[in-house]
Amino acid sequence: MERHVARPLTMPPQPHGGRPAPDPFAATGPALRWGVVSTGKIAHTVTAQLARLEDARLQAVSSRDATKATAFATQYGFRASYGGAGGYEALAADPEVDVVYVATPHGQHHAVAGAMLRAGKHVLVEKAFAITAAEAEDLAGLARERGLFLMEAVWTRFLPTYVAAMDVLESGELGPVRYVQADMGFMAERDPRTRLWAPVDGGGALLDLAVYPLCWVIGALGLPTGVRAAGNVNKDGVDELCALALTHAGGAHSQVVVSFVSDSTRRARIVGTEGYLETGPSLSRPDGFTVVKGAARRSAEFELTDAPYAFQLREVTRGVQAGLHESPAMPLAHTLASMRLFDEVRRQVGVRYPNDVA
Ligand SMILES: NC(=O)c1ccc[n+]([C@@H]2O[C@H](COP(=O)([O-])OP(=O)(O)OC[C@H]3O[C@@H](n4cnc5c(N)ncnc54)[C@H](OP(=O)(O)O)[C@@H]3O)[C@@H](O)[C@H]2O)c1
Repeated sequence: MERHVARPLTMPPQPHGGRPAPDPFAATGPALRWGVVSTGKIAHTVTAQLARLEDARLQAVSSRDATKATAFATQYGFRASYGGAGGYEALAADPEVDVVYVATPHGQHHAVAGAMLRAGKHVLVEKAFAITAAEAEDLAGLARERGLFLMEAVWTRFLPTYVAAMDVLESGELGPVRYVQADMGFMAERDPRTRLWAPVDGGGALLDLAVYPLCWVIGALGLPTGVRAAGNVNKDGVDELCALALTHAGGAHSQVVVSFVSDSTRRARIVGTEGYLETGPSLSRPDGFTVVKGAARRSAEFELTDAPYAFQLREVTRGVQAGLHESPAMPLAHTLASMRLFDEVRRQVGVRYPNDVA
């Protein structure tokens, strides 16, 4: 079977999950000097893992709040901190920063990542990459013009479990894949002040969660060719639940559900002519998968690492060290196609953001 998602740069084949995964912390080249924008939840989680990479130097952090910037810098050992209005612009101007991790809410990704690219930094942008496809195309254009590395932080594509599942598909043992079902959701606390529910931050289940089921859909079937979407939109115009029926080349289909209003199964099922592969929970960080062919079942189990984000950090590091402009495993073409898909889903479901132009 054709492989739709390239293997990560440092990950050897993992057909049945039997191999030990490579150590994501081991240096693969000269050290990179990192900047981090935001001191929010995911910035803390990812920075703690970044600090463990042998070839990462924590250079600078920025925050809207100078006190938080200083505290974050002290906690992780950054050499510089920039706070208050103009904080991220000051980080962009720091000549000692090579690569920046942007971990603000999605509503700010375009402005912040754009400033970093214009200043000549390589950039890793949290998901969702942007609010609109137009914003995403603008960022991709900036990176291409300047020859910089740019990647959306879809960390799940770099996990050994996912790579092993893709290797099983590539082996052809399931036959041609006919459909994929994947869902991701949780009961999100209804607080309109939080980024999950705020239109200005790109709130809604689609932008927050769809990259996770799509990771499995795109890995198994490639990019979708069409979509029919339905969903529930709350009084603030934010989607609580979206159900996507996607078509793919060769007559294959996929179904994706994302939700802030259900305790979802958080599994993916990839179904071929000869059998199916089903992930364990959770969809974003499964502990393994089962391959079922008639009466035969085989399970592959993986130790859950305490540093799941380190694999994507290794990909960015290796990509920059190798002079690449994007990751073969998470190429900009996939990000741009996903953002165009989200625009279309939002059009069908009726979600508009302040960032929408027309
Ligand atoms: N990869 C993953 O597993 C994962 C998990 C969670 C979230 N995410 C993504 O990461 C991004 C941040 O999520 P989070 O959960 O870390 O959010 P969060 O806890 O609300 O933190 C976001 C931080 O961004 C900064 N910020 C800058 N401009 C802002 C603005 N206008 N409004 C609010 N905050 C602003 C703030 O830090 P300062 O106060 O320091 O400026 C804030 O603490 C989102 O795009 C989300 O989708 C990814």
